[in-house]
Amino acid sequence: MDLYEYQAKDLFARYGVPVLPGTVATTADEARAAAEELGTTVVVKAQVKTGGRGKAGGVKLAKTPDETRARAEDILGLDIKGHTVHKVLITPASDIAEEYYFSFLLDRANRNFLAMASVEGGMDIEEVAATKPEALAKVAIDPIAGVDLAKAREIVAAAKFPAEVAEQVADVIVKLWETFVREDATLVEVNPLVRDPQGKILALDGKVTLDDNASFRHADHAELVDVAAENPLEAEAKAKGLNYVKLEGQVGIIGNGAGLVMSTLDVVAYAGEEFGGVKPANFLDIGGGASAEVMANGLHIILNDADVRSVFVNVFGGITACDQVAKGIVQALEILGDDATKPLVVRLDGNNVDEGRRILAEANHPLVTLVDTMDGAARKAAELAAAN
Ligand SMILES: Nc1ncnc2c1ncn2[C@@H]1O[C@H](COP(=O)(O)OP(=O)(O)O)[C@@H](O)[C@H]1O
Ligand SMILES: [Mg+2]
Repeated sequence: MDLYEYQAKDLFARYGVPVLPGTVATTADEARAAAEELGTTVVVKAQVKTGGRGKAGGVKLAKTPDETRARAEDILGLDIKGHTVHKVLITPASDIAEEYYFSFLLDRANRNFLAMASVEGGMDIEEVAATKPEALAKVAIDPIAGVDLAKAREIVAAAKFPAEVAEQVADVIVKLWETFVREDATLVEVNPLVRDPQGKILALDGKVTLDDNASFRHADHAELVDVAAENPLEAEAKAKGLNYVKLEGQVGIIGNGAGLVMSTLDVVAYAGEEFGGVKPANFLDIGGGASAEVMANGLHIILNDADVRSVFVNVFGGITACDQVAKGIVQALEILGDDATKPLVVRLDGNNVDEGRRILAEANHPLVTLVDTMDGAARKAAELAAAN
């Protein structure tokens, strides 16, 4: 889960990383009131889960409460890289002497953690990395040893931070590591980390990605989920414990096993080319022991997707054999009753396939078409989606 800047900085503050106070506003009037309360020149910052807000016009200075109101009006509703701005952060404007870059991240390629730091921070670290790689220090972090003050000083030296801020930056780096580890993050990024004219170090921006696989040990992370911003179908799927991702197409997909579902998406996209570019509407892996209830939950979500024109159920019977899956589909259609309205193409193979196909043939449900091969079923599902 990615956090908003204000949430990231709230976390930083808990670990002692220096940040400025701020108030989140969802209306221009709230923004004005927040500026009045702060009583200083402020920055109005779009809260969207993407970078490059500054360049996109989502970060604006405002000298007075009225100006804050006007800037908030400009920014609220703005589209930044496909993200609509629903909230702004009102925070004091800081004088900036220098902008630095710092991050900890999970380096998957090297199966390790990595610290990255640069004295050339600010807007575009990707550009620094591409055009001046020597200006971006990369220091591998041993996950067991972690980051103590000595390691932090090593990072500071590698990035050539000026001597007068070296100790302060090292201290902030240790605190960011604490945040990274204690919160089970896969990314903690500060860009810019600034030095103000008085020589004080401040995190002016914050980006944090939390590892959802560790959410079981962070009950408090649930509060960070922005329910309103979630796709409602994805939210329902999550509540039911289903592995579902909404896509743009018209063929609803249900399969068992992430690999099979991924290849089903490919096969459907390929087959769909013949029918004017029909595409898969979602990823849904119902997993190994797919009961009738899980099948019904999955079908329910997919049939509620207004984009879906047909559904392709692609199951390979393993531990849960095809006959049980077939019974699951029949029962799911009974449970759904009149809610089931779109044609279903079912392809079963694997353990007990003959019995599975017999059960479906016998049920003879008007919406269900049985096809023996994956390619054939994908083509049928695409054809039905195009015709519906
Ligand atoms: N509180 C602030 N005071 C002064 N300048 C700021 C403040 N917050 C951000 N900025 C300036 O705006 C730039 C972009 O803001 P930032 O929070 O980094 O957003 P993004 O990375 O999405 O563009 C920063 O590099 C900094 O120069
Ligand atoms: Mg930034």
